[in-house]
Amino acid sequence: VLYPDLPEHGLIVLIGASGAGKSTLARTWPSSQVLSLDALRGTVSDEPGNQEATGDAADILKLILERRMARKLNTVIDATNVEETVRMELVTAAKRHGMPTVAVIVATPLTVCLQRQSLRPDSRRVPEDIVRSQHRAMVHSHQRLTAEGFNTVIFADALNRLEPYLNRLSQ
Ligand code: GTP
Ligand code: MG
Repeated sequence: VLYPDLPEHGLIVLIGASGAGKSTLARTWPSSQVLSLDALRGTVSDEPGNQEATGDAADILKLILERRMARKLNTVIDATNVEETVRMELVTAAKRHGMPTVAVIVATPLTVCLQRQSLRPDSRRVPEDIVRSQHRAMVHSHQRLTAEGFNTVIFADALNRLEPYLNRLSQ
């Protein structure tokens, strides 16, 4: 168990801008438990960075999540999840299945998220204005998450608290 206050079987929604470190954090869970919107875009279009494929990828993500929750399996959603409508759909599905919900805010500073973009290949680089708006939405989402129905809200400051978990991974 990654954090002591996480339920053993629940819905874990990572929230953060591109480059915040969501996929890096997600790798601390067994890979079968992680639903990555990027990976599913790749599955439907051969291009993980193809924004046109987001709708199709999101449809598949929701279908798999549904089937996993019917089995009461723990699932981690690796996507930006900075929009309330996106989160509400996930929370509603979890409540329907009686699964506890956890929001994990990956609150990496904007400057770091932007700097990490510059290290990526063109096909994986998210434009600066989009990263800025995702980061703003992440900050804005913070005080809303409990009202949205999340049972637990956790911070994973990728610069600080993630480091021990990454170290544990490499042991
Ligand atoms: P998107 O998929 O574009 O939304 O980004 P993401 O939030 O999944 O970010 P990702 O996990 O791909 O991390 C971006 C870069 O930051 C990668 O090169 C990681 O190696 C690095 N990184 C992520 N988390 C940490 C951390 O805690 N410490 C350090 N040093 N580097 C990190
Ligand atoms: Mg990612």
